[in-house]
Amino acid sequence: MPSPVHVLTERFQAALAKAFGDGYADADPVIRPSQFADFQANAALALAKRLGENPRAVAQKIVDALDLTGIAEPPEISGPGFVNVRLSSAWIGAQVDGFDDRLGVPLQSPLTIPVDYSAPNVAKEMHVGHLRTTVVGDALVRTLEHLGHHVIRQNHVGDWGTMFGMLIEHLLDVGEDSPDAQLMVTDPNAFYAAANAEFQSDPEFATRARSRVVKLQGGDEDTLRHWHELVDLSKQYFNRIYDTLGVTLTDADLAGESTYNDELAGICDELEAQGIATISDGALCVFLDGYTGREGKPVPLIIRKSDGGYGYATTDLATIRRRVRDMKADRILYVIGVTQALHLNMVWDTARKAGWLTDDVEVVHVQIGSVLGEDRKLLRTRSGKPLKLMDLLEEAVSTARAVVDEARPDLDESVRAAIAPQVGIGAIKYADLSVAHDSDYVFDLDRMVSLTGNTGPYLQYAAARIRSIFRSAGLDPDQLSGQADAPLVITEPAERALALALLDFGDVVVHVGDQLEPHRLCGYLFELAQQFSAFYEQCPVLKADTEARASRLALCKATLAVLDQGLDLLGIARPQQM
Ligand code: ARG
Repeated sequence: MPSPVHVLTERFQAALAKAFGDGYADADPVIRPSQFADFQANAALALAKRLGENPRAVAQKIVDALDLTGIAEPPEISGPGFVNVRLSSAWIGAQVDGFDDRLGVPLQSPLTIPVDYSAPNVAKEMHVGHLRTTVVGDALVRTLEHLGHHVIRQNHVGDWGTMFGMLIEHLLDVGEDSPDAQLMVTDPNAFYAAANAEFQSDPEFATRARSRVVKLQGGDEDTLRHWHELVDLSKQYFNRIYDTLGVTLTDADLAGESTYNDELAGICDELEAQGIATISDGALCVFLDGYTGREGKPVPLIIRKSDGGYGYATTDLATIRRRVRDMKADRILYVIGVTQALHLNMVWDTARKAGWLTDDVEVVHVQIGSVLGEDRKLLRTRSGKPLKLMDLLEEAVSTARAVVDEARPDLDESVRAAIAPQVGIGAIKYADLSVAHDSDYVFDLDRMVSLTGNTGPYLQYAAARIRSIFRSAGLDPDQLSGQADAPLVITEPAERALALALLDFGDVVVHVGDQLEPHRLCGYLFELAQQFSAFYEQCPVLKADTEARASRLALCKATLAVLDQGLDLLGIARPQQM
């Protein structure tokens, strides 16, 4: 079911070709929403300039060649040469009636798209930045898959580095099955801090830790086994968070830094052999044009430290080579903090120089902005303690519980208990998604869980309310057959506005896939929910006469389907009642 903009674009292109020659069959008629009609085509203005003709005369020629029979009322020319189009209500109704379960979302020709997101670090607490890349990345992955693409989730966890010597020794000291070891699952920062305290205060421990690093890097089997134990404990911690969040990441998506260990020496050799990397102060570095720091000094990308160790940059060179060469990626997304832009650009430019990244592959840094506390500084819990992500999620659920208790005291205790996590987690996720992913925002739990405003709970509530309309009519929206017995008949302006908004869904989802902007979908769903409210206020549904009732129920059903699908693409739960 192509969207109105699509249908109009085609019709206008046909008219342009008819009036000005086949060369215009692909021209952009510049269809935009209009204040005075539903849409306007602005093509005449640029075209007139090009042809040296009067724009209104050009617009007239377009209109003369334009066939909108069955779609719209006769077009009108306004202003300097806009062509205004008001769609026919019958056509709008028929389009919504014709919705299949894609709801106007096209299936695109499939691209292979590795998506690098979440990427927390072993033996460290996930912070709100990790939360945001996890939530935004997951919404993108769901949307791209729904559009038909082959998405490869890549959870680039930080699972390698010199601190593992100290962590392994500490694990051995406390015992693998001890409560202290369990801190890795429940409070990883506490485990890390305990290991670090030993490292700082006990020279004997520090010596052991250092020789452990050497063993780990040398591939000593026993040491590798302990390293695996640590990683497994961290996986349990990550998975607790992922389960609570309801994101699609699983162990199968883990592609941590250690995955690339065997390739790092080769990467360095190849770059050195190609003359791209050179030794500077004992380290192997890449110097690229255009990257200069203070006083014009070139900024190096260090790929092998002077002690022979490889770092974050070398690993990321390996990821890009693997994603292009082995996965045959068409498009690669890195859903990572804004602050890593320089790092990524240097890695990509190095990979381009080496021929590992070619122009036919699109690489995108989906920049993630910061989540701040009310003082616009680092976010802390309400009690002022440094933030533990699990505590934050629990706080959201209990705040949501209070909201649900107040709004629906009539619901069973067990029902309210089940709704609270859906609302609380939905609120947190929606807050991350509804702001442009690269802007900072202030974390404000009370605002996030509010049932009014552009919030997750407001949308959940809108969908639940439509469900309750069906419930009170004794109907199941999924059983209601849309077309046959309930043709959509649009008479009221609020019905028309709602139906027209429903027809935009496909274009919005395509936009999110192209521009990687989940907040556009949030904004669309928010507006749709408001339009539904206006419709519901102005047009009785269950009390309407038979024909209008059937038609309005069909409109309710389509709205519910779009809200459900939209929330699902965002990864937000849909409580059955609220
Ligand atoms: N683990 C890193 C961090 O916590 C993020 C990794 C992002 N992915 C990548 N390919 N560099 O900051």
